[in-house]
Amino acid sequence: MRITLFGATGNVGRRVIFEALSRGHEVTAVSRNPERAQGLPADIAVRRGDAANPDDVAKLSTGEDLVIAATRPAPGAEEELVAATEGLLAGLRGSDVRLLLVGGAGSLTVPGTDGLTLVETPDFPSEIRPIAIAGCAQLAACQADEQVNWSYLSPPASLEPGKRTGQYRRGGDELLTDEIGGSAISMEDFAIALLDEAERPQHHRRRFTVAY
Ligand SMILES: NC(=O)c1ccc[n+]([C@@H]2O[C@H](COP(=O)([O-])OP(=O)(O)OC[C@H]3O[C@@H](n4cnc5c(N)ncnc54)[C@H](OP(=O)(O)O)[C@@H]3O)[C@@H](O)[C@H]2O)c1
Repeated sequence: MRITLFGATGNVGRRVIFEALSRGHEVTAVSRNPERAQGLPADIAVRRGDAANPDDVAKLSTGEDLVIAATRPAPGAEEELVAATEGLLAGLRGSDVRLLLVGGAGSLTVPGTDGLTLVETPDFPSEIRPIAIAGCAQLAACQADEQVNWSYLSPPASLEPGKRTGQYRRGGDELLTDEIGGSAISMEDFAIALLDEAERPQHHRRRFTVAY
């Protein structure tokens, strides 16, 4: 599969590259600053591009099977997440290239709360509220699109670097929790879940989530 990856220099993006290459896919890594791509594997193409620019997206996705987006704006510029998502959607409209987005957990409903989303819960950490709210708007932008074949993968509450175990569970719009209320996955296993969806798409124009 030919995959163009926006956010390739990020924490999630780097693990997606590793997972995709290990499965034999061809990866084009996109960054607004390709000099940041130093240290990425030598057997990928690196291109300059901005997800918020539909022309960049159209050009960089031509001939590809799939675009994966794992972009995250700098703190204080959270509204750029929606601009990037709208740029991706606009750039892919009219093509048959699929879009697989790494989203946020904030829009997942929390079990046992009568439908509160994670970001609406009273104990939600204030320092990550802006990116969580941007993630909700990012999902809404996808749901408002009527043409692009998108899938949106919400992480659980905790998505941190860790071990690659190959184990995970899938869910829909509700936060997945374990028997003691934890909600987590390593970025390595998250990348596995993302590539599993890339290879065997099951969530056309839908959000899904994964966790241990
Ligand atoms: N529990 C959760 O909900 C949770 C936890 C962690 C992460 N996440 C989500 O996972 C995603 C990735 O997070 P991360 O930790 O990997 O982020 P990160 O390490 O900060 O990397 C994000 C990357 O996005 C790229 N980027 C930002 N805007 C872009 C644009 N307009 N066009 C192209 N590239 C752009 C940046 O690359 P350049 O500067 O090189 O262009 C950067 O390398 C985010 O959506 C984040 O919200 C969710």
